[in-house]
Amino acid sequence: MPTPKDILGHISASRVLDVATGGGGFVHFLLEGLQDYAEIIGVDNNDRAAAGFTEAFRENPKIHFQQMDAHQLDFDDSSFDLVCISNSLHHLDPVPVLREMKRVLRPGGHLLVSEMYRDNQAETQMTHVLLHHWWAAVDTVNGILHNETCTRQQLLDLVSPLGLTELSIYDLSDLTENPRDPAILEELTPIFERYIQRAEGHPDLQTRGAELRQRVEEVGFHSATALVVMGKK
Ligand SMILES: C[S@@+](CC[C@H](N)C(=O)[O-])C[C@H]1O[C@@H](n2cnc3c(N)ncnc32)[C@H](O)[C@@H]1O
Repeated sequence: MPTPKDILGHISASRVLDVATGGGGFVHFLLEGLQDYAEIIGVDNNDRAAAGFTEAFRENPKIHFQQMDAHQLDFDDSSFDLVCISNSLHHLDPVPVLREMKRVLRPGGHLLVSEMYRDNQAETQMTHVLLHHWWAAVDTVNGILHNETCTRQQLLDLVSPLGLTELSIYDLSDLTENPRDPAILEELTPIFERYIQRAEGHPDLQTRGAELRQRVEEVGFHSATALVVMGKK
């Protein structure tokens, strides 16, 4: 599987933006891959993300969090060298967000999209996809924007109108872990409990959760393959 260094090691990025950063999961990927940087800013509209992000990077004065809506980035045009989004396009209205990401990117800078997709997955990875789709359904009945994941081609079709050049495309998947490791179910159990509770009043969604829990035990779980697309503005 390509490493963060394989993907990012050759680009020069001083000012970096991670859109819909959450707790900064993708910032760790950036730190592994980038040769150097002056500043990384993570933005997310969820104020609860700020605490986790700030705690994770509190010892690094070059990494900051700003609360912001990805559809309207409060940054000047052409003000970043690298602009990224990871596993968040299906939580957003992707076309205006990608347009905003391109706007704040300087000419010659790199835009990177990393997102799991739903097709061409092993059975164990389908457990991850189906879990995501259940989470999306539960969020939706709770009034939260959360779409099902895209196909690989849908992701490429979202990036294509941006007109990026020198595209690099990677499929990241790791099937080496034991898919029935009891630690996986242990980690997922509080998430199942939370979502089954949030699905109260929707018995069909609660049943779907119970069936998925059983699927994790019987079929097993691997993270779904993610597509990474990177290109130059
Ligand atoms: C699945 S998390 C991904 C977090 C991180 N990028 C990662 O890869 O670990 C999706 C994130 O999108 C954020 N999000 C959803 N809608 C948003 C919006 N309109 N503006 C900014 N962030 C948003 C959520 O708060 C959440 O942190």
